[in-house]
Amino acid sequence: MAKLGRFITFEGGEGAGKSTQVARLVERLRVLGLEAIATREPGGTPNAEALRKVLLEGLVEKLSPASEAMIFSAARVDHLDKLIRPALARGAYVICDRFADSTRAYQGGALPENFIDQLEKLTVGETVPDLTFILDLPAEEGIARADARRGNGKADRFESEAIEFHRGLRAAFLTIAEKNPQRCVVVDARRSVDEIASDIWTCVHARFIGAQN
Ligand code: TYD
Repeated sequence: MAKLGRFITFEGGEGAGKSTQVARLVERLRVLGLEAIATREPGGTPNAEALRKVLLEGLVEKLSPASEAMIFSAARVDHLDKLIRPALARGAYVICDRFADSTRAYQGGALPENFIDQLEKLTVGETVPDLTFILDLPAEEGIARADARRGNGKADRFESEAIEFHRGLRAAFLTIAEKNPQRCVVVDARRSVDEIASDIWTCVHARFIGAQN
């Protein structure tokens, strides 16, 4: 299927405000009369949402990094086949809360780089995002925000990891951005929702919308 639309992903650690920014961006695109779809990973299709439960809600005992990475990837293949690629083929904007960079950052720390490279290639193929926003903030701030958002709810598989894990995640996302400077834009996520949304819109407009007018 030929790709006509635009694929934009949001990445970052816990509590960076990705889902709010996904919603803001979709809203702005729709105001222009463009088809824009908000989706997320793990999830986005019924099967991938079922795998999300397995991965995040403690339905199974802690998996090895390799098997965890492969289940995230299995969910991604379903999501790509059933939702992302058909939408891109129609010419839609697909705005996704997390994608393959999350597997590299969250699972990749405990795996050989070659394993993640191969897995990513097999899973994603040519459907590499056109643009990725990495919402960056200190691990402590992100965790504090995620704790506040959750209230009395139970921390999931990753929220309950130690602070060192979250510091490592931040570094891993910044490394991904350095290695992929054309695709990735690092956004300072300590600012207000409006300031962040405004920077994101400026970037999307300059790359995809202004360019067509
Ligand atoms: P979610 O509630 O969406 O987290 P957040 O609000 O922080 O985005 O849960 C997704 C969790 O799954 C998050 O902790 C990151 C983790 N994850 C991976 O470990 N690997 C992956 O490939 C993906 C997509 C997510």
